[in-house]
Amino acid sequence: MNILLLGSGGRESALARVIAKSSLTENFFISPGNPGMEQYGKCIELKGFENMGNFCMQNRIDMLVVGPEQPLVDGISDFFAGTKGLKNIVVIGPNKTAAQLEGSKDFSKQFMQRHDIPTARYQTFNAKTVEQGKKFLQTLNPPYVLKADGLAAGKGVVIAQNLDQAKKELEEMLLDAKFGQASSQVVIEEYLNGIECSVFVLTDGKNYVLLPEAKDYKRAGEGDTGLNTGGMGSISPVKFCTEEFLNKVKTRIIDRTIQGLQKENIHYQGFIFFGLMNVEGNPYVIEYNVRMGDPESESVFARFDSDIVKAFSLIKEQRLNEYQIKISPQTAATVMLCSGGYPQEYEKGKVINGLDSTEDAIVYHAGTKNENGKTVTAGGRVIAVTCLSDGLQAALDKCYRNIGKISFDNKYFRKDIGKDLL
Ligand code: AMP
Ligand code: GLY
Repeated sequence: MNILLLGSGGRESALARVIAKSSLTENFFISPGNPGMEQYGKCIELKGFENMGNFCMQNRIDMLVVGPEQPLVDGISDFFAGTKGLKNIVVIGPNKTAAQLEGSKDFSKQFMQRHDIPTARYQTFNAKTVEQGKKFLQTLNPPYVLKADGLAAGKGVVIAQNLDQAKKELEEMLLDAKFGQASSQVVIEEYLNGIECSVFVLTDGKNYVLLPEAKDYKRAGEGDTGLNTGGMGSISPVKFCTEEFLNKVKTRIIDRTIQGLQKENIHYQGFIFFGLMNVEGNPYVIEYNVRMGDPESESVFARFDSDIVKAFSLIKEQRLNEYQIKISPQTAATVMLCSGGYPQEYEKGKVINGLDSTEDAIVYHAGTKNENGKTVTAGGRVIAVTCLSDGLQAALDKCYRNIGKISFDNKYFRKDIGKDLL
């Protein structure tokens, strides 16, 4: 099988690692990739769907695996399905209609409502209905959750502590385009008090394979304080995701989502990421993502002991029910090494040392590049270190030991990943 993977972050590094391991993988290309991914496949830079399509034809690509959400929301699956010479390529990632589950919060909330999928009570507003929006806020209890409808690079959710602040945020989002076009509509929803976790499936539109669950640590500061980030670390499994809880997730959320898509004739193939809140043992959907999570993937795929390409290859004929998934019973812990200042301003181009000195750890590159023969920082989240061990404490200990061996100027990481669950 010849495979092209799109993306350049920690999530794609984790996908690349398991794709490279498969005995079914022949030629493996990654666009654009990063220096750490060169050990898994050939990194090339392809810009635009046309170029990607031409490359796929020239290199007889059988499978396109799409890491991030943007190309999916922009319709890369539709482009491949509608282009002569590309139609037979299996795209792992949903079409544009299905990708609205992530691309539009209003679409996803309406979808959940239609299919009786537990989620926070909500209403959607636009520039013409700001005043109604303020009235709706008055019916809720603090804190107030406001979400830009469209993609906003993970920044489009505002949690306001009091009513005045919430009203001001609403005005800024709708009237001052705080998040550009993404906030031309705003979803206001009830605040759910609970503990978050991430659940993932790979689906062919009819059947699905449940992947290991994970917990992501989103805030920049210790003790879940400070600004929201793309994710500072993750662990898998998650002890509060008991069999009973996961059964509720399956029956109330996953089954209803897959069946809902089928009922609405929306074909979905690829990963679905359910961002969940566990409220007193009951799962509620906070958000859908139409891709894997980052840094959840780093932990999830570290525990993945089966052949991912085999699963991908069963998708086209909707035979995913034949797939036998094997998951390591060990615990995976991932800690992100970030550039000091992230998620706000930070410097780039710092030389990274010690990348080869880790022991029994997976070192995923997230934001790096090669410069004058050296690997340097090129993003806010720079390196994800993942370790597997028996139990959370041992996995974390191993991870933090290894992190000490990697250095760059102004390295920052959270020291309390997983501690809340020990
Ligand atoms: P999202 O981008 O939708 O994942 O939202 C970002 C973060 O906001 C989530 O990870 C939650 O921590 C928080 N959040 C979103 N919606 C709610 C809600 N209804 N209740 C409580 N927290 C929420
Ligand atoms: N870790 C959260 C996300 O990937 O959206």
